[in-house]
Amino acid sequence: MDKLRIRGGEALQGVVPISGAKNAALPTMAACLLTEGTLFLENIPNLVDVQAMRALLEALGVTCHADLHAHRFSLSARSVKSVTAPYDLVRKMRASILALGPLVARHGTAKVSLPGGCAIGVRPVDLHLKGLEALGASINLKDGYICAEAPKGGLVGNVVTFPVVSVTGTENILMAATLARGTTTIINAALEPEISDLATCLNAMGAKITGHGTTTITIEGVPRLKGATHTILPDRIEAGTYALAAMITHGTLTLQASGLEQLLPSALTVFAHMGAQIDCRENHIAVSSSCELCSHDITTEPFPGYPTDLQAQAMAVLSLVPGSSIIRETIWENRFMHVAELVRMGADISVHGLTAVVRGVPALLGAPVMATDLRASFGLVLAGLAAKGETIINRIYHLDRGYEAVPEKLAACGASIERISAE
Ligand code: EPZ
Repeated sequence: MDKLRIRGGEALQGVVPISGAKNAALPTMAACLLTEGTLFLENIPNLVDVQAMRALLEALGVTCHADLHAHRFSLSARSVKSVTAPYDLVRKMRASILALGPLVARHGTAKVSLPGGCAIGVRPVDLHLKGLEALGASINLKDGYICAEAPKGGLVGNVVTFPVVSVTGTENILMAATLARGTTTIINAALEPEISDLATCLNAMGAKITGHGTTTITIEGVPRLKGATHTILPDRIEAGTYALAAMITHGTLTLQASGLEQLLPSALTVFAHMGAQIDCRENHIAVSSSCELCSHDITTEPFPGYPTDLQAQAMAVLSLVPGSSIIRETIWENRFMHVAELVRMGADISVHGLTAVVRGVPALLGAPVMATDLRASFGLVLAGLAAKGETIINRIYHLDRGYEAVPEKLAACGASIERISAE
């Protein structure tokens, strides 16, 4: 398994090109199942999770052509030969559940493995299933699989209320409702920008969606969708991660992508309160922190609150800030696995249930550490960039799932970092 070797102490200076958003690419790729037309997607990031979604779609019979260098995909589900998403593919990437809604909507049936949990939590999909049942689907769980059947005439529009905000739950129902007969209203829909990006793509395919970006989304079902071309929005979590890299190394990074200010409202506010200088422009954001940073309490919340996917990264920064910071994780029940690894580097962090108390220390010391999940792995990268000495990060396949070209992007800004390929 590949590792990363980082020698800390360099103040990062330079430009970071921000890739397309992983969490927009995955649902939009799944949307190809809704039509026999061809879906052309631009700005698709080169990620392990994107390749996993491609493998799942091809197993279903989708024809995929990818120009990875140009970040361009074309997907055609004209001849879908299977409606089964097998366990060995779904277990590698939970977002495979996003095949469920489109398959039931267009083919009337689907058999999708239950995703199972992952490192950060149990991650149930009950709200996805209840939403499809509200649209008339019958759902049975058998041998670890979700077996879903639409009524004879297809799904039927209805009101779908989410008692808990669910990003992929909203996305599954949004996609399924595009082909349902009649009107569907999603209440307490997720507000994440990736939802609006998906809705924009679906409308380009001929769907009739309004209200995306608010908590109430209305979908007028249509008989069929057509192919379209869509450009994925920038990855706000990648951008926030590199902003924190500028902060922890007391450098200056220019994050190159348009509209980042609207994509990171709370995170940029928190970073500014922590003492970062932030200059927002149309096509980039410059982040620097020459002076000492300040401690800050953080509570993760659904958009537009502070993103849970930036929690581990912020904790790494706060571990070097004088004073105490309280971090409350309200979305996932087990998203503090990076704490033990940061403590091995000299951080002073204690966990009390879903709350972590971070007491700043003068320095972190490089050490061999273990990545446990996607965002935690970048928390360790940030710690390594600031630590004294050398840090070796093991199991960086976690990082490769959601971040494109990390060593290259960081080295281009002066970091001493290299990938050590497994023998
Ligand atoms: C999406 O996961 C993201 N993944 C996650 O990013 C992100 O952490 C999460 O949203 C929250 O923002 C993708 O978009 C592919 P949820 P998702 O359904 O949709 C509970 C990353 O690092 N819930 O919004 O799986 C659930 O337990 C990943 O890129 C139910 O109870 O998250 C959680 O407490 C990690 N029943 C809360 O809702 C359900 O049926 C939010 O989960 C579904 C969810």
